[in-house]
Amino acid sequence: MEKITINTPGFRSEILVGERWDAVAGLLPEKDVIIITDDNVSRLYGDKFPKIPVFSLSPGEESKKLEVIEYLAEQLLLAGIDRSGFVLAVGGGVVCDIAGFLASVYMRGIRCGYVSSTLLSQVDASTGGKNGVNLRGTKNMLGTIRQPEFVICDPKMLQTLPEHEYLSGLAELIKTAVIGDKELFDLIEKSFEKIMSRDTDLLAILVTKSVRFKGLVVSEDEKETGLRRILNFGHTFGHAIEMQKGVKHGFAVASGMVLATEFSFKRKYISLVEKERIIRLLERFKLLTELDLTGNQIGKLVLHDKKKTGTEIHFVFTQGIGKAIVEKVPVNEVLGFYNKFRDKK
Ligand SMILES: NC(=O)c1ccc[n+]([C@@H]2O[C@H](COP(=O)([O-])OP(=O)(O)OC[C@H]3O[C@@H](n4cnc5c(N)ncnc54)[C@H](O)[C@@H]3O)[C@@H](O)[C@H]2O)c1
Repeated sequence: MEKITINTPGFRSEILVGERWDAVAGLLPEKDVIIITDDNVSRLYGDKFPKIPVFSLSPGEESKKLEVIEYLAEQLLLAGIDRSGFVLAVGGGVVCDIAGFLASVYMRGIRCGYVSSTLLSQVDASTGGKNGVNLRGTKNMLGTIRQPEFVICDPKMLQTLPEHEYLSGLAELIKTAVIGDKELFDLIEKSFEKIMSRDTDLLAILVTKSVRFKGLVVSEDEKETGLRRILNFGHTFGHAIEMQKGVKHGFAVASGMVLATEFSFKRKYISLVEKERIIRLLERFKLLTELDLTGNQIGKLVLHDKKKTGTEIHFVFTQGIGKAIVEKVPVNEVLGFYNKFRDKK
């Protein structure tokens, strides 16, 4: 088991990769704990949950809304949970985002921890403390940054994931490799078969590398005033694609990464060979969706992007595999690039 510590001002969060998920019972306070999960996860794992109250949500992005937070807060109140309470999330990125947000606002903040059960949440969503819900079609508009006390990433839980959910997580893993870890990129490239067969030992290594990188970034810039922005590689276009086309987060980010890579190539930040390696890897894992959105559809969503300040957007470029930079780019230039790219296809 690997223990990765994330130190942010005044807080220490521990990510336990390779730990058995049911060891969570030993990490919980004795009383006033509630579990938040979703119906799929509770169907598969519920019989081994610690014997404490469980609130199970409808699976999927639809649950990421303010009404659900309000409903859960009422349930906490009815269950007599006070400021000494503890929220345990058992689930993927949706459940962790909801539980983290709830824990950060209920009675101005109570403790929380996660059992992270999807590849996407293990390699990305459950590290770093960001949480939130969507607002009328715009992703993660309401949220806070609050570190969970612990996160368990048990690679065995990934065996039960449906194929498209597993692949969706791979996209965020590839993102980490492109922006910060060339060795990880090489390893993913040469481990196609083992990745597809969900080799547990390899998955523990891949998750560890990804969490280590994200942990370093978050420890340096928890509030995303600088370095942390690089984690948004592929996300400017990705969020727009996710909301417009309704595809899973990872698939949308994968297509967003293609666009960000092409934009980086256009600016001569990346060589043709590296550009092709990145796109080929995404294609090999069948992560790409057709880019058929109009400039207007993309534009509307890019204008609401949280990375936008005034008429400019913090756009993440790759500077070759393993390196990224963030530059302020006028929104018009981002859209101009997209329109030209689409016309050429
Ligand atoms: N907070 C962050 O920093 C951050 C980062 C990236 C993504 N996100 C968010 O994460 C969300 C996506 O997360 P996700 O892809 O994990 O989605 P998810 O939580 O909806 O899980 C995907 C599906 O897998 C099921 N599932 C979960 N664990 C399972 C298991 N072990 N076996 C079988 N089925 C299982 C769920 O019920 C669901 O149907 C998005 O809302 C995105 O915005 C947050």
